[in-house]
Amino acid sequence: MKKIIFILTAILLISCNTESKNVLVAPNGKIYVETGIEDGKPFYLVKLNGNTIIEKSYLGFLFKNNDSFFDDFIIEKINTKSVSEKWYQPWGEELTADNTYNEMTIQLIENSCKKRKMNLVFRLFNDGLGFRYEFPEQENLKNFVIADELTEFALVGNPKAWSIPTNRTNYFENLYKKSYVTSLDTVSTPLTMEVNDSLFLTIHEANLTDYAGLNLTPKQGSSTLKADLTPWSTGEKVFAKTPFVSSWRTIIIAKSAGDLMLSRIMLNLNEPSKIEDTSWIQPGRYIGIWWGMHLGNYTWGQGPKHGATTANTMRYIDFAAKYGFSGVLVEGWNVGWDGDWSTNGHQFNFTKPYPDFDIKKISEYATTKNVKLIGHNETGGAAKNYESQLDSAFKFYNKYGVTTVKTGYVNALLDHKEQHASQYGVRHYRKVIETAAKYKIVIDNHEPMIPTGLQRTYPNLMSQEGVRGQEYDAWSPDGGNPPEHTTIIPFTRGLAGPMDFTPGTFNFSNPAKPETHVQTTLAKQLALSVVIYSPLQMASDMIENYENNPAFEFITSCPTNWAKTVIPAAKIGDFIIVARKDRKNENWFVGGITDENARELNLNLSFLEKDAKYRAKIFKDGKGADYKTNPYPVEIETIEINSNSNIKLNLAAGGGTAIIISKI
Ligand code: NOJ
Repeated sequence: MKKIIFILTAILLISCNTESKNVLVAPNGKIYVETGIEDGKPFYLVKLNGNTIIEKSYLGFLFKNNDSFFDDFIIEKINTKSVSEKWYQPWGEELTADNTYNEMTIQLIENSCKKRKMNLVFRLFNDGLGFRYEFPEQENLKNFVIADELTEFALVGNPKAWSIPTNRTNYFENLYKKSYVTSLDTVSTPLTMEVNDSLFLTIHEANLTDYAGLNLTPKQGSSTLKADLTPWSTGEKVFAKTPFVSSWRTIIIAKSAGDLMLSRIMLNLNEPSKIEDTSWIQPGRYIGIWWGMHLGNYTWGQGPKHGATTANTMRYIDFAAKYGFSGVLVEGWNVGWDGDWSTNGHQFNFTKPYPDFDIKKISEYATTKNVKLIGHNETGGAAKNYESQLDSAFKFYNKYGVTTVKTGYVNALLDHKEQHASQYGVRHYRKVIETAAKYKIVIDNHEPMIPTGLQRTYPNLMSQEGVRGQEYDAWSPDGGNPPEHTTIIPFTRGLAGPMDFTPGTFNFSNPAKPETHVQTTLAKQLALSVVIYSPLQMASDMIENYENNPAFEFITSCPTNWAKTVIPAAKIGDFIIVARKDRKNENWFVGGITDENARELNLNLSFLEKDAKYRAKIFKDGKGADYKTNPYPVEIETIEINSNSNIKLNLAAGGGTAIIISKI
């Protein structure tokens, strides 16, 4: 990855190295972290503009066999440094990320006879912080087992939080619930909280490598959240060997909900790209033989309704070529789907097409049409079976020009045993990404662990699920995603990285399940292509539902890779407007959406270039549009605008507005 600037500046740290209290300030001087030792216990606290926002919070571990590693420390040494650099993002919400921080490493040693060592590393950015534990190579600590991570986040007051429960989630595909922190269950991160109108916090993690996924649980009903790592089936959390590091614990500190979305702390805390030449990693919008399966019109397995046939795939390739889609996803093409595939994942064969899927003919046809075939590897959670075939599968895809593979793990447990976000799962997903990189394969991972920014290091990890997506609108017994859902996820799961939500459905009902349908207006489906960020995005519907609909122009025009992102207006759970600038030209795309309430929002266009003229093509909710009673009317209007203009967005209940802004 190309580094644009790298300046290691002088140390800006104020280090009052009194007995055992040390202070680090953010480069802009507004955030302050104090760390120290109290009765042998390491702690930290955080202030913003002089006000405490995280009270004294303890740090440390319980190792296996009740071996405490949290209450006998002294500080041996403190190192500090400051960094300011910008790094290029091969794809992303903007072209570069600013990585400016001050860092403090506190070297701890046990006071008693064991003399084991641990470092606490704090990195303070202008919009929050990250910290992690380092376990240096040492005589008295070699192999060790973490039974519990004791990290605390002692919140001030009792903020409101949007959460999903860790222990009652399938693949993190829940609706987010709003509650006070004190009444939280054990919850997954990112955990986003509103402390007051001008203070929002999100706790998450970055660079989850050979560790266990972070969850949070309130301590005895208080507003102190404690880390709760996802365990192995045997109860242990992490098996480690020095030298070893934990993932980073991150806290975004923002004055508005929109600003949460612009923080790049998580990405910055991951390692630079290990892939030098990223030219083969290309974002794009694609279509898929997919929604038909979710409606029940097609099947994944063999039979009269098999969706992945040669003829059907060629029909999709024709459509993709005609409308400029980069690829066609085909699910159900390979042996393993017949019968109960999510229980019998070990039967999946990733190089054996079904007889009615002529991969040679299809891939040759796709090449002539300049369309890529997107592979699908559903594993049914049988991770070992998949690992044993990774090399042969990716070689096979290289041969047939398949450069992107969607992976899937539909089983609550990997190998019928381990949780997706356990250290076992973390190791498996990493192996897939690394092997894919070796074969120049891009991954879109479904049923993942919650992402932690690894795409900086492996930009071939382009998109992931880990969110309740559009598919629920086809079959969910609860009727589908309520309109509020998409006004929450950009501020929760969305902060963990690209979401493969797959918006863009044009026909909202499923005759097989009349009680379930898409709960948006059509204009909102368009707007979601901008609001929900994913560099790989599938227009979800069956192709027959797109043609002859003027609204389709927005889907075929909207890019998936951006030079800049701004959030002109946002209120979590109510509405959000996102504006993104195309990487290839001076055009902007805007998506504004609301929950179940109709509302008028003002879009201020001051983000446009001063003194330039633009044409705005607005796709808005038509007369009488309402997600419940009349979802389809879309009105298209073109006006001239400049950076002094304001556009009133009249959003229907469950509605949205999508705008193409082209420079004249
Ligand atoms: C669940 C995935 O989210 C969905 O996209 C896919 O079609 C099915 N699993 C089958 O693999």
